[in-house]
Amino acid sequence: MLDLAGRTAFITGAAQGIGLGIARAFAREGVRLAITDIDQEALDKAEAELSAHTSVAAFVLDVRDRPAFARIADEAEERLGPVTLLVNNAGIGGPLSLAEMSYELWDLYVGINIGGVVNGVQTFLPRLMARGEPAHLVNTASGVGLAPAGGSTIYEASKAGVVGLSEALGKQLALEGHPIGVTVLCPGAVATNLAATSRTARDLAAPRSDATTEDRERDDRRERDETSFLRNLGADPDDVGPLVVEAVRSGATFAITDRSTAGQLAQRAKALFSALPPATERDHRLDVFMATQRRRMAQESES
Ligand SMILES: NC(=O)c1ccc[n+]([C@@H]2O[C@H](COP(=O)([O-])OP(=O)(O)OC[C@H]3O[C@@H](n4cnc5c(N)ncnc54)[C@H](O)[C@@H]3O)[C@@H](O)[C@H]2O)c1
Repeated sequence: MLDLAGRTAFITGAAQGIGLGIARAFAREGVRLAITDIDQEALDKAEAELSAHTSVAAFVLDVRDRPAFARIADEAEERLGPVTLLVNNAGIGGPLSLAEMSYELWDLYVGINIGGVVNGVQTFLPRLMARGEPAHLVNTASGVGLAPAGGSTIYEASKAGVVGLSEALGKQLALEGHPIGVTVLCPGAVATNLAATSRTARDLAAPRSDATTEDRERDDRRERDETSFLRNLGADPDDVGPLVVEAVRSGATFAITDRSTAGQLAQRAKALFSALPPATERDHRLDVFMATQRRRMAQESES
């Protein structure tokens, strides 16, 4: 069980929504907070609120900006002490039709949703491994990253990447003997401003000078529908924070906020198992070889 009190957390996308819910829950546990976000105004509000409960340092950070990430990590650690909890939460979402897919939107979603997590990991993991102290990483993916549903290929692919990255990293850290856990947070629906913040990001990255009035009306309607869906059916971000605290404390690999992906998960597992060919003697030899190789890699990393 990881003791949280007195630690320092670095949270991206912390100005509102799920990130702020996690920051509030950490503050209640006595965690010092480096909160970061691309949105200065929302960040100022979050800082004012959280400062009443714990030590807080706030930084404007676009998670795609690697030099800024490193600089802000240094400054955060100087002000609040070594970071041992990293929450790579910043991200965007939203449904996108296949006709809307473009290189600009692939770059945007992959750049923020996966690239932001990669940048957080590359900024902090070498520091955490060098210190050798217990630490924990949380990466925000999505339920559709566990079991893609076909609602938005770009978004779902980016979140599947976060799931894969998190599981691989958690397993390799354990194999190489580092006391660092990894949780992948997979929200289903959570009542946040995701529809609006994502639309702003899309409009900036892929401005459509040829957009017709109908296009704009469709985008407005879609944003309203998604926002009202999340507001009406989504979990309260303040209920997601404690779920994350519990996952960090217990070292859980997955934190899932609702059962909305249960059907897709079951279908996926069934399809995967039925695609496996019958077992042969070669499978046994492959298992032995791979187990030996993992042990050798673990020994090499210790020496
Ligand atoms: N709300 C949901 O139903 C839901 C479902 C599945 C996954 N998620 C994921 O949860 C995470 C948090 O989203 P949320 O629902 O709280 O939405 P939100 O819009 O309320 O919060 C996301 C925050 O990330 C910030 N952000 C966006 N791009 C950024 C960038 N490039 N650099 C730094 N900060 C950036 C935004 O300014 C915002 O404050 C995201 O990764 C999202 O994809 C949310």
